[in-house]
Amino acid sequence: MSLLLIAKNRDMNPWKDALLEVDSNLDIEIWPRVEKKERVTFAVSWNHPEKVLDGYPNLKVVSSLGAGVDHLLKDEAISESVKLVRVMIPSLKSQMADYVLNAIQNYRFHTSRYVDQKREAYWSKHDPVPKEDCTVGLMGLGEMGTAVAEWLLVNGYSVLGWSKSKKEIKGVECFNESGFDEFLSKSKILVCLLPLTKETSGILELYLFKKLQSPAFIINVARGAHLIEEDLIYALDTGVLKGACLDVFEEEPLPSNHLFWNRPNIMITPHVASITDPNEAAEQIVENYKRSLSGMELLNEVDRVRGY
Ligand code: NAP
Ligand code: GLV
Repeated sequence: MSLLLIAKNRDMNPWKDALLEVDSNLDIEIWPRVEKKERVTFAVSWNHPEKVLDGYPNLKVVSSLGAGVDHLLKDEAISESVKLVRVMIPSLKSQMADYVLNAIQNYRFHTSRYVDQKREAYWSKHDPVPKEDCTVGLMGLGEMGTAVAEWLLVNGYSVLGWSKSKKEIKGVECFNESGFDEFLSKSKILVCLLPLTKETSGILELYLFKKLQSPAFIINVARGAHLIEEDLIYALDTGVLKGACLDVFEEEPLPSNHLFWNRPNIMITPHVASITDPNEAAEQIVENYKRSLSGMELLNEVDRVRGY
């Protein structure tokens, strides 16, 4: 039996080293140079090319290398009988919580305006946006959303949360699907931390933006396809939104001629909000690999029907 590491445009050798550090007896293959496809029962993937996993007749489990699993679910070549799992480790949550806090503080204290002013050697002061005017609405209260909520509370922000099922998080006003409009009407900064599913694709659109407390600020750290890009431009141009911080995009890398690059009120980062550390993730991956070999229940299994 062997374990396959498969990712597009990424050196998987540090992953191999980290896994061998946990168990030096593992038999590990790295795509695309796979010697014995029929021995592979477990794959660890990040954005693998669609249909490639078709050629592995004994594949039983595919693990996402990160928290998101949309890249696995969209590949119809992965048979329904193959179980899907994901990595969920503490540093994924703490990085995300830090990223979102930082994005909010950058917005409040006009960081990107000061960076532009420095380039022009131009001295001009701007009043910070008061914390009281920064009620944060979190779309998604899963592993990431809950960690972000807790960190924002520690830092003195008012936090609202919205999820499919109603949650109880101390200090957070929580809404479920039926409370969506009330949640939006109370949010001044909206953060998307939803998984990408049929229901959530394109959810960040003009009608939603208009329901926020105006003018609002949005942060998308989930997936690019949550956002209707032209609606964002329109909402910024018409003053519905004051600005946006985007870490994820419909097309990554964001093409160099994309409209977003020239917008001073859009902060852009290249999908770095929360990056999986191989050394921290390795133990969990090996644990799941061993569980799969002995037919045990897997950790962090994905519900294929709900899509996350
Ligand atoms: P998760 O634990 O699966 O939680 C998902 C949350 O979204 C849950 O609270 C769920 O509600 C809610 N939800 C799902 N569909 C919904 C709907 N239709 N309406 C309302 N709420 C809905 O996911 P996670 O680990 O927090 O991660 C969230 C996403 O963050 C990932 O899927 C990934 O795309 C993204 N991510 C991005 C980065 C980055 O670097 N930018 C890093 C890591 C993750 P219930 O609790 O009621 O089920
Ligand atoms: C990153 O985007 C992840 O899903 O872990």
